Amino acid sequence: MNILLLGSGGREHALGWKIAQSSKCDKLYIAPGNAGTCNIGENVPIGVNEFDKLKDFAANHNIDMLVVGPEVPLVNGITDDFHNDPRTKDIPVIGPSKAGAELEGSKDFAKGFMKRHNIPTAAYETFDGTTVEEGIKFLESLQPPYVLKADGLAAGKGVLIVPTLEEAKKEFREMLDGMFGNASAKVVIEQFLSGIECSVFVLTDGDHYKILPEAKDYKRIGEHDTGLNTGGMGSVSPVPFATKEWMKKVEDRIIKPTIDGLKEEGIDYKGFIFFGLINVDGEPMVIEYNCRMGDPETESVMLRLKSDIIDLFEGVAKGDLDKRPIEFDDRAAVCVMLVSGGYPQKYVKGYTINGIDKVEGSVVFHSGTAMKDGQVVTDGGRVIAVSSYGSNKEEALRKSFKEAQKIEFKDKYFRSDIGQDL
Ligand code: AMP
Ligand code: GLY
Repeated sequence: MNILLLGSGGREHALGWKIAQSSKCDKLYIAPGNAGTCNIGENVPIGVNEFDKLKDFAANHNIDMLVVGPEVPLVNGITDDFHNDPRTKDIPVIGPSKAGAELEGSKDFAKGFMKRHNIPTAAYETFDGTTVEEGIKFLESLQPPYVLKADGLAAGKGVLIVPTLEEAKKEFREMLDGMFGNASAKVVIEQFLSGIECSVFVLTDGDHYKILPEAKDYKRIGEHDTGLNTGGMGSVSPVPFATKEWMKKVEDRIIKPTIDGLKEEGIDYKGFIFFGLINVDGEPMVIEYNCRMGDPETESVMLRLKSDIIDLFEGVAKGDLDKRPIEFDDRAAVCVMLVSGGYPQKYVKGYTINGIDKVEGSVVFHSGTAMKDGQVVTDGGRVIAVSSYGSNKEEALRKSFKEAQKIEFKDKYFRSDIGQDL
C-alpha cells in the first residue's frame, strides 16, 4: 500500500515509524513532515490544510490510504472533502468526518453529546454574546476555581482556570469579546474537577473499537507541574492507577456510550478517539475529547503496540476491526521531550542539533526540526522526543534521561521529573 500521512510533529513521526514497520506498507509519504520523518518515508511539501493539493498528490501517486495526524484538517472536513471528490472518493481516510471531529472542534457539542448519552463529565452551561448576564449568574452559583473554555479550537490554549469570581467574570467577558477570536464566540463554563488525568485512546471503525495502551502526559513547562501549559513535555505508559477495574469503568461508562452515541446520531467516525479523562475519587470522568492521537502520548503508545498498525487501519476502513488481532508490549514506554529555551513563550528557531546519531537503545522522534544546509536544526518549541522501553517506568525514564543528554542544541530544556508523580 501507498500511505499518505499528514502532519509534522512527534506524533506523526511516531505514527510513521510504526506504519513503516508494516509489511503492508510499500511507500510512505509524509506531508509536510520534518527532518526526522524523511528517514522513514518521503516528505512532501504540502501543508495539512491544502486539501486540493493533497487530493492532486493522492490521485497522482496511487495513494491507498490517508492517515490524518492533527485535528485542524479533520475539523476543517478533510475526510468529507476526499470522499466527495471523484478522484479520491475511494481512498480510505483514518480520521473522522467533519461531524465526528466536532467532538474536538466544539466543546459545546462535546458537552451536549456527553449529556445526551449520560457520559460522566463536569456540569456545565454554554453562553454567547446574547447571554452574558446569564453566564455571570452561573459563575456566581459555582465554587472556585472557575473553568472557562473557548468553544472552538484554540491551539490548546482555550481553557482558563481562574481562582477568583472577580477574575472569572472579567475573563468570561473578554473571551466573548474575542480573546480567542471566533473560537471564543461561545464559552463553556464548567464545574472544576479535582483529580489526576489520564489519556485513553481508541481506534474505531464506527461499529467496533480497540482500546490502545493508556498514557499520562505532562503539560506544564516546569518541574512538579508548575508554570505555563505546553503541548506536552513527556509521557508515560502504562498509568498505574488505570487498573483493570478502572479501565472497565472507562469502557462501560465512557467508551461504549461514545461509540454507540456516534452511531445513534448518524455520525460517521473512522479513526482515533482520544478520551482526556480525570480520576475523581476512583471514578473516571471526561475532561475532553480529541479526534486524533495525543502528542506526546503517541511517542510512548506506539512503542507498546505490537500489532501491524496498517492491518488495524484496514480493519477501520473495511469495518471489520473486530476481526483484527491487537497485541501490546508489556514493557513500560516513556518519552521525554526536549524543548527550545523560552518555550512556550518566545524562543529562537534554527539552532543546529548534534548528537542524535549517538543515541543508543532509545527511539528519537522529531517534533519541531527542519533540514538547513544538510544539518538538522530546531524548528519549533518542542524539538525532539526521546522514547524508551523499560521493565518499568523508572528504568525507561533512566534510559530516556541518559540518552537525552547526548542530544545537543543551544538552550535545550527538558523536565527531569516526568513520571515521578505516578
Ligand atoms: P482541555 O483543553 O479541555 O483538555 O483542558 C485543558 C486542561 O485544563 C485539562 O487537561 C485539565 O488539566 C484542565 N481542565 C479542563 N477542564 C477541567 C475541569 N472541569 N476541571 C479541572 N480541570 C480541568
Ligand atoms: N497531549 C495532549 C494532546 O495531544 O492534546
